[in-house]
Amino acid sequence: MSYYDQVKEAADAIRARVSDVPRIAIVLGSGLGDFAGSLADRVSMPYGELPYWPASRVIGHDGRLVVGGVRGRTIAALAGRSHAYEGHDLRTVTFAVRVLGLLGVKTLILTNAAGGVNTAFAAGALMVIDDHINLMGGNPLVGANDDRFGPRFPDLTDLYSPRLRRIADEAGGEHGMTLPHGVYAAVLGPSYETPAEIRYLRTIGADAVGMSTVPEAIVARHMGMDVLGISCITNTAAGVLPHAVDHGEVLETARRVRGEFLALLEGIIGRL
Ligand code: HPA
Repeated sequence: MSYYDQVKEAADAIRARVSDVPRIAIVLGSGLGDFAGSLADRVSMPYGELPYWPASRVIGHDGRLVVGGVRGRTIAALAGRSHAYEGHDLRTVTFAVRVLGLLGVKTLILTNAAGGVNTAFAAGALMVIDDHINLMGGNPLVGANDDRFGPRFPDLTDLYSPRLRRIADEAGGEHGMTLPHGVYAAVLGPSYETPAEIRYLRTIGADAVGMSTVPEAIVARHMGMDVLGISCITNTAAGVLPHAVDHGEVLETARRVRGEFLALLEGIIGRL
């Protein structure tokens, strides 16, 4: 069966289980998964119940797609994503976004945990992604292009929608937050970076570094979706401060700013 047909079968399976098809979707990064459990009138679909859906097994990520209401809008929330560092190829990593696209999602909000490369960022900051640098060593569009998804050579100018970035600022302002903006560099992982790599990333214009989001953003753009990306700066990147980078700290910071992050997301969704 073709990849397109697998994506379509998964989208059809979701459509059959919901009364209202979402036009907005959000991928929840580390520590944010339980946002999905706060949706009104929700339908929860564990990934294992959806055809061809890849499993993710990282601590801090559960695995389900939840469709439900936020501020009067029906959204799809993905708690748990696949990462390339788990050994998945980038088509598998972006399967979920393909499904959302065929389902009819027009606006995709991608959230993640990231290391702060910009030395002005403190742990706990929420950064609006203005642009990205793909250093993963791969691109999810490699291989024969299926024109049913999108064009062979998609343009990535303004991949992160200027309109949605403005909306994020407005929603932040409502809660007294001034959100920093910056460039997200995506690396493969799973090891954290060396201090020399972080100096290199700073030199080439990155403000934050993480191991997700970029393949999903590319695929979403390929399908014509509007994309917003928000990084929770969970730690200063390697070498910025004289201590090690640790997954426990990443999760702890994500938990600490969770309330603020969720308020921001709700404010954004309310403005869409
Ligand atoms: N580097 C890469 N990915 C990350 C980091 C980091 O410091 N923190 C959270 N995700």
